[in-house]
Amino acid sequence: MSARIGAISESATLAVDAKAKALKAAGRPVIGFGAGEPDFPTPDYIVEAAVEACRDPKFHRYTPAGGLPELKKAVAEKTLRDSGYEVDPSQVLVTNGGKQAIYNAFAAILDPGDEVIVPAPYWTTYPESIRLAGGVPVEVVADETTGYRVSVEQLEAARTERTKVLLFVSPSNPTGAVYGEEDAKAIGEWAAEHGLWVLTDEIYEHLVYGDAKFTSLPVLVPALRDKCIIVNGVAKTYAMTGWRVGWVIGPQDVVKAATNLQSHATSNVSNVAQAAAIAAVSGDLDAVAEMRKAFDRRRQTMVRMLNEIDGVFCPVPEGAFYAYPSVKELLGKEIRGKRPQTSVELAALILDEVEVAVVPGEAFGTPGYLRLSYALGDEDLVEGVSRIQKLLAEAKA
Ligand SMILES: Cc1ncc(COP(=O)(O)O)c(C=O)c1O
Repeated sequence: MSARIGAISESATLAVDAKAKALKAAGRPVIGFGAGEPDFPTPDYIVEAAVEACRDPKFHRYTPAGGLPELKKAVAEKTLRDSGYEVDPSQVLVTNGGKQAIYNAFAAILDPGDEVIVPAPYWTTYPESIRLAGGVPVEVVADETTGYRVSVEQLEAARTERTKVLLFVSPSNPTGAVYGEEDAKAIGEWAAEHGLWVLTDEIYEHLVYGDAKFTSLPVLVPALRDKCIIVNGVAKTYAMTGWRVGWVIGPQDVVKAATNLQSHATSNVSNVAQAAAIAAVSGDLDAVAEMRKAFDRRRQTMVRMLNEIDGVFCPVPEGAFYAYPSVKELLGKEIRGKRPQTSVELAALILDEVEVAVVPGEAFGTPGYLRLSYALGDEDLVEGVSRIQKLLAEAKA
C-alpha cells in the first residue's frame, strides 16, 4: 500500500454510524446519534424531477465532466439568491457531494508542504483531504469557553510563510458554532490582508437557529473574491445525502483545474441526481424551513437534557444539527465497573451499556468531547439522551 493512502484513517463518523446500523440490523434497540444526515425524506418535487429524468434517455448519458450546464446556471442563481454573491456558471464545478468538492479544491491549489489552517474541532474529513492533496493541516483549537470559535489572534499565531489556505466553516460540523458577522468579517479581512486563500464550507447555510445568521465570507469581505473557494451541496438543505451532489465555486482557473482532475478521476456526477439537484436549488426553501423548525426543537431538547448531566457541559449550538458537549469532567470516574480515560472509551461504554451511538471528540481533533447529531426523531432523541443521563448519573470518583 502506498504511504499516502496507508496513512488515511477510516471516517470515524461513518464507522460509528455503520456500527450502530449493524447492531440495529441484528435486532438491538440501538439509538444512533452518529449520523450527519437529516432523517426526513427528500421533498417530493425533487424526487419527481428525478423520476422524470430517469424516463428520459437524455439523462441516461454522460454529462460534461464538470456538470450539466443547466445545473451550473441554477447553482449560480441560487448563490445570488441565498448569499447575494454573484458568480458566473463557469465558476461552478458539480461534484460527487461536498466531500469531493473539498478534495478537488484542495488538490487544485495545494503544492506539497503547503499549510492549511484548520480550526478545531474540525470535521473529520478536512485534514485527511488536505494530506491526500499533499498539504499540511495546521490545527487551531477553540474550546467550549468561546463556543468553539477561533479568534484572529489564534489564527495569526498559527500563520507561517508556508500558510496558503484558511479553512472556514460556519455553521460548523461538529460543534454547530456559527460566527457572527463581525467575527467572520475580521477573519476574512485577516486572510485577505495576508494574501491567503480561503476555502469556506457553506453546506449548513440554511440551518441556523434563533438570532444566528449565515453570512457568506466573500460577500462580507469582497477583497477575498479572487482567492475564495466555496464548497456547498444539496445534502443537508434538501435531505439529499444519498444523491451525492455538491459543488465548488471559485476563480475560473481553479475551477478549470479541478474539473480537469475530476474528468479523469470520476467524470460527471450521476446525470439523474443532477436533474434532481436542479429541482432542489431552483425550488423554494419551504421544505428546509419545516426541517429547520424540527431541528430547532430537537436542538433545544437535546442541549437541555445534556446540560442536566453532572460533568457534562454543552454550549448551545446555533447551526447545523450537532451538539458537542465536553465530557472532560467524567473521564477517569467509575461507571459500571469501568473507568473510561478518554472520550473514545466513554463512547464505547455508552454503546456497550445503553446501546446509544455517539462519536468521540478524537474524531474531530479534540479528545474530551462527544458529538451527538440531533437529526433524528424526537422520541428516539429523548429516549437516547435519557439512557445516557441514567448511565452517566452512576459516575463516581
Ligand atoms: C461540514 C461538512 N462539509 C461537507 C460535508 C459533505 O457532505 P456531502 O459529501 O454529503 O455532500 C459534510 C457532511 O457531513 C459536512 O458536515
